[in-house]
Amino acid sequence: MRRLTLVVNGRSRAVEARDEDLLLDVLREQVGVTSVREGCGVGACGACTVLVAGASVSSCLALAADYDGAEILTVEGLGEEDPVVAAFVAAGALQCGYCIPGFVMMTHELLSERPSPSPAEIREHLAGNLCRCGTYFEITEAVAAAARRRGGG
Ligand code: FES
Ligand code: FES
Repeated sequence: MRRLTLVVNGRSRAVEARDEDLLLDVLREQVGVTSVREGCGVGACGACTVLVAGASVSSCLALAADYDGAEILTVEGLGEEDPVVAAFVAAGALQCGYCIPGFVMMTHELLSERPSPSPAEIREHLAGNLCRCGTYFEITEAVAAAARRRGGG
């Protein structure tokens, strides 16, 4: 066991992890951020996506031990007034909601890189995120609306 510090949503959290422990499990079980979800467990669905220093990471593939001191952002770190969250809610871009935190984090990454993405750029950036409920149309609309809310688009 190693003692690590993760800076999750702006708060330093002391955790303990074996070398093989996944960031996904440590975030859920020790930090309590349950928006970080396991879908596939093999890096193919995006449900477990978090941002580390602003860049997306599949936490189901990441070893917690590699993230000592890292700044990690999850949906819990965004308020309801967050433009991406607000746009997803306004667009009705969810059914069961299981996949949505991953889409929201990927949208934040996209809009920080491209404030006014084209529909093709939105689809390309979110291509690794799967939604079993098939809300892709509403999600694409929500991302475009989020760009406008942030002053891009
Ligand atoms: S659970 Fe990590 S990508 Fe699917
Ligand atoms: S809203 Fe249900 S999996 Fe996407």
